[in-house]
Order: sequence, then C-alpha cells, then structure tokens
Amino acid sequence: MNKPLLSASQLSKHFGGIRAVDRANIVVNQGSITGLIGPNGAGKSTLFNLLSNFITPDSGKVIFDGKAIEKLPPHKIAQRGCVRTFQVPRVLSRLSVLENMLLAPQRQTGENLIQVWFKQGQINKEEHFNRERALEILADVGLSAKANDYAGSLSGGQRKLLEMARAIMAQPKLVLLDEPAAGVNPALIEEICEHIVNWNHQGISFLIIEHNMDVVCDPSRFRDGKA
Ligand SMILES: Nc1ncnc2c1ncn2[C@@H]1O[C@H](COP(=O)(O)OP(=O)(O)O)[C@@H](O)[C@H]1O
Ligand SMILES: [Mg+2]
Repeated sequence: MNKPLLSASQLSKHFGGIRAVDRANIVVNQGSITGLIGPNGAGKSTLFNLLSNFITPDSGKVIFDGKAIEKLPPHKIAQRGCVRTFQVPRVLSRLSVLENMLLAPQRQTGENLIQVWFKQGQINKEEHFNRERALEILADVGLSAKANDYAGSLSGGQRKLLEMARAIMAQPKLVLLDEPAAGVNPALIEEICEHIVNWNHQGISFLIIEHNMDVVCDPSRFRDGKA
C-alpha cells in the first residue's frame, strides 16, 4: 500500500539570509510511520511549520489526501485530517487535561451561536460522546487520574502525551509529531512508541521528527517495515 497521503515538493523558506528549508521534497505514504531525521538546525521544525502552514512557504507545493493545502490556514488543514504537535508541547495550562482534550474535535455543533439556541439536544449528545472518547484516550495513555487536574501541573513527558492524545482526539488521518521523545524519560519513551504503533494499527499515519535514533531506527518497534 504505497499511496501517498502527504507529498510536498520543492518547499523552501528563508529567514533573512538563512535558508532554513531549501527545495525540500517529502512523501508520507498512507498507513506509514515515516521518520524525519537530521541535526539540530537542519530545518525539520520549519518543514513541519510549512507543511501545516503555520509559516507560509516562499515556494513549493503540498498535497494532502489528494488536494493542495499550501494555501489553506492551519485550522483548515487540521479539519482535513492533518494534525501536528510542537517540539515544545503547547497545552492550555489553565484548563484541565480533559478540557484540553475536548477542544480538539473539529466542527462541533456548539461552536455556532445560532445552533446553541436551536440544536441543544444534538450539542448535548455530541458533548457526551466527545467526553467519553476523551476519557477513553486518556485512559489509553495513562492520564485518567489527571483528567481533572490543570494541564499546567503535568510533567514535560505527560504534556507530550496530552498533546499526542489531543491530536488523536481530532480523528486525524495523519499526525505530525515534532520530537515526541525529546526530554522524556526512557520508560515513557517506550510507552510513547507503543501508543504510536497502536494508533498506527487503527489506521492513523505518522510523520515523526526524532533525534533519538533508537526511536526511529529500531525495526522491532515498527512492524511491517513501515517505519
Ligand atoms: N522564525 C525564525 N526566524 C529566524 N530563523 C529561524 C526561525 N525559525 C527557524 N529559524 C532558523 O532556521 C534554521 C532551522 O531551524 P529549525 O527548523 O528549528 O531546525 P530543526 O528543527 O531541524 O532543529 C535554524 O538556523 C534556525 O535558527
Ligand atoms: Mg526542531
């Protein structure tokens, strides 16, 4: 199954005199866990920013799921199923862990003021469904006991888990993970790898930037030769 889910061609971005990304090409196949490696400062995070349009590319094309996305704003790209995490996790510290999760589902009926008046039943049903699903995913990643704690009280590794769990909550086709193992203790790294493999078996593809070569190169972790 070598059907491309994401393909970027000739992506470039310079910051003043620095060519952070210079005519980069990348393909992520449907169902794969694809690794992106390179030294510090090589432009990996910038490439993620270009793929998700957090930074506008100087030039280049990005096709996701058969459609050009390089001109779409980041939230539209996420709505199409391409969701990212950040090298330094961005959780909303003053919301609870569960509330962070409940922000992820796209196109919630209750986001629209008029529908708040006329579709209360549907909104309640959706919120109930989202809450159950969020609690299930939090249980999967071992954060159930923290569901009602402020996200700001989590350790660095737990924040990474929450960011990943929140990405999964958005029901993505592809998740872009920027250094999921950086600054995380070895036991938790093992756990994070297991979650990624499990989510992959549920049909979610991954593009992972990682410095830790054990994470990206251990073939026993990622079966089926997919990594
Ligand atoms: N917003 C920015 N403004 C100026 N320079 C930047 C910016 N973002 C990244 N860079 C520079 O681009 C290069 C690539 O950075 P980055 O993509 O973060 O690398 P990596 O993630 O591979 O470590 C570095 O030299 C970095 O200093
Ligand atoms: Mg980086």
